[in-house]
This record gives sequence, structure tokens and C-alpha cells, in this order.
Amino acid sequence: MEKLTGKKINVAVFISGRGSNLKNLIKYSKSKYSLIKIKLVISNKVNAKGLDYAKKSKIKHFVRSYKNINISEKQILKQLSKFEIELVCLAGFMKILSEKFIKKFNKPILNIHPSLLPKYKGLNTHDKVIKNKDKFSGATVHLVTPKLDSGKIILQKKVKVSKSDNVEALEKKILRIENKLYPEAIYKFLINF
Ligand code: GRF
Repeated sequence: MEKLTGKKINVAVFISGRGSNLKNLIKYSKSKYSLIKIKLVISNKVNAKGLDYAKKSKIKHFVRSYKNINISEKQILKQLSKFEIELVCLAGFMKILSEKFIKKFNKPILNIHPSLLPKYKGLNTHDKVIKNKDKFSGATVHLVTPKLDSGKIILQKKVKVSKSDNVEALEKKILRIENKLYPEAIYKFLINF
């Protein structure tokens, strides 16, 4: 990727569901200080609620079922190249990108994960936090590598876990900080890139 020269960089956001991070990234991309332009939204679910945000903002979107990972990834790579995507942001994308895909794209891919990595990679993070009686949890934006939730950490934010928090309450709390964290992490990543 070239150094930043004032031109916004082209981003694709990958989703699978609700899309609250996508909604927020769209809002951020339209702000004065944003360094990104969201050109494409990819979903592996045709009924992902997040697709509505793409439609509302007239952002091109592309759904691939992932029934055949190889074929879906090839088609997605074609779209990424067609839209000259320079950065991919995973936002609740529930499929694991293959090593081949990551190598072929050959540009940065970021992910937001709802835990203080390296603690609690994978699924059900809030459940694990509560079962282990952790005092803090949070969210992490990191670079994607072929190893699940293990790439370089760009930025983290912490929240205090209350004794009364159940999974839903903790999820809500963390989503609230995710919405600030992702734009901040993208900014930090791009100015240091
Ligand atoms: C977020 O908690 C994110 O950290 C995780 O998946 C969830 C996606 O939520 N990777 P949303 O679809 O952005 O609302």
C-alpha cells in the first residue's frame, strides 16, 4: 500500500449479521477526519441485517454463501481487485479466511474481537469472562493472519465487568466501546503504516 497522500483509502467491510460495527464505520467514513472510503460490503449471509446499512448508504454489496470456500474466496478476491480495495475490515464476519486468501489479497486485513486478546480467542468470549470471574474484559482490533485471532494487536479498550453482568449485559457494554475502538484503531494503523 502506498503512503497516505490525503487520498482516502478504499476499504471493504466483511460482515455476517447485525452490522453495528459496519454502521459505525460507515458513519466514521463520512466524517471529516476519516482516512477511509467504504467501497464494498461483503456478507456470507443473504439476510444479514448489516446489509441494510450498506443499501441505505448506497455502498456496493456482495453476498457469497461460502458453501464452497474456494469458489467464494476466488469471487471475493475478484471483487476486491475490481473495487481497488486497499484494506479489509472484518466486522463480525463468522468465516475464517484461508491462508491462500490472505496471501493472494496481500494487503492488510483488520479484525475486531470482543475480548482482551490474547485472552479468549474464538467464540463465546463473554461467557468465558463471566465463568472465570474476570474483573475486566474489552475489545481488540488486530491484524489478521492465518492463525485465528493471533495477529499483531493495533488497539485495545477495557471495560470493567460488574458482578451483576450476564452475557447480554457484557456484550452490550463491549459493543459500545467497539464502536469507538474500530475507527480509532483504523486511524492509528493507517497513520503508522
Ligand atoms: C462484535 O462483537 C465483534 O467484536 C465480533 O462480532 C460482533 C459483531 O457485531 N467480531 P456487529 O455485527 O458489528 O454488530
